Amino acid sequence: MRPAHVTILASLLLAASPPGLAATGDGAGALPAALAARAQSCAACHGPEAAAEMPIIGGQHAAYLYLQMRDYQSGNRADPRMAGAVDGLDRDQLIALARHFAADPWPANGAEPAGQSARQQARSAISAGECSQCHLGGFKGDSRVPRLAGQREDYLHATLLAFKHGGRSNSPAMADLMAGFSDEEIAAMAAYLAGYRDDASP
Ligand code: HEC
Ligand code: HEC
Repeated sequence: MRPAHVTILASLLLAASPPGLAATGDGAGALPAALAARAQSCAACHGPEAAAEMPIIGGQHAAYLYLQMRDYQSGNRADPRMAGAVDGLDRDQLIALARHFAADPWPANGAEPAGQSARQQARSAISAGECSQCHLGGFKGDSRVPRLAGQREDYLHATLLAFKHGGRSNSPAMADLMAGFSDEEIAAMAAYLAGYRDDASP
């Protein structure tokens, strides 16, 4: 992907947030009782103690979480482990869940900073891919662009490979971009981003 494309996509992406998800103010995390029970069912896989291949969702951006849940419902994104997890929830319930998880603090993932050779390889891939144009400084993300810093390494690795090899097709821009990187560069970027510590806050 040429830099001009990246810049245009970045400005489009950062411009708009789905309604109801732009801000997380007081009470953003509160849920009605029926939804609270549903939210508890996510913890085994997404909580702070979950396995390395499970993405952290607590502290992720609300608009991004909402769009992913919508994609799992529609089949635009599919994974057997998420099958049925968000079925039967309407749009307002998805938004409430997204805001609930977004209001959690981002948990520590236990990763060590990447080793020196992975770090060098990752830095040059990240600069070639202009990741920060969209994922922003400190890889903090915003709105519909996910936070990457401190996400779990195995999950980052798997999802970047899935973009590249077609297993995750809900973002043509990320798929096009990943097609340009070797599997080794992708592994290095996953290790680097998981261990990225510059910015501890969400
Ligand atoms: C059995 C384990 C399991 C349960 C239960 C589960 N999930 Fe997931 N979830 C996963 C896995 C594994 C992925 C990554 C799958 C993939 O690569 O597409 C995922 C992905 C996600 C994502 C996308 C994360 C990202 O960074 O892109 C969201 C959002 C999500 N789940 C929300 C939920 C919610 C909300 C619930 C409860 C209502 C839930 N999940 C229940 C295993 C689970
Ligand atoms: C043009 C903007 C743009 C650029 C440049 C970009 N990304 Fe993304 N990225 C996105 C968007 C938007 C998403 C969310 C896609 C979706 O909704 O499924 C995303 C998703 C991701 C995810 C999935 C996170 C998760 O929780 O599942 C990873 C990992 C990722 N990007 C890494 C990278 C890396 C590494 C680079 C640089 C090599 C990069 N991105 C460059 C916009 C971009």
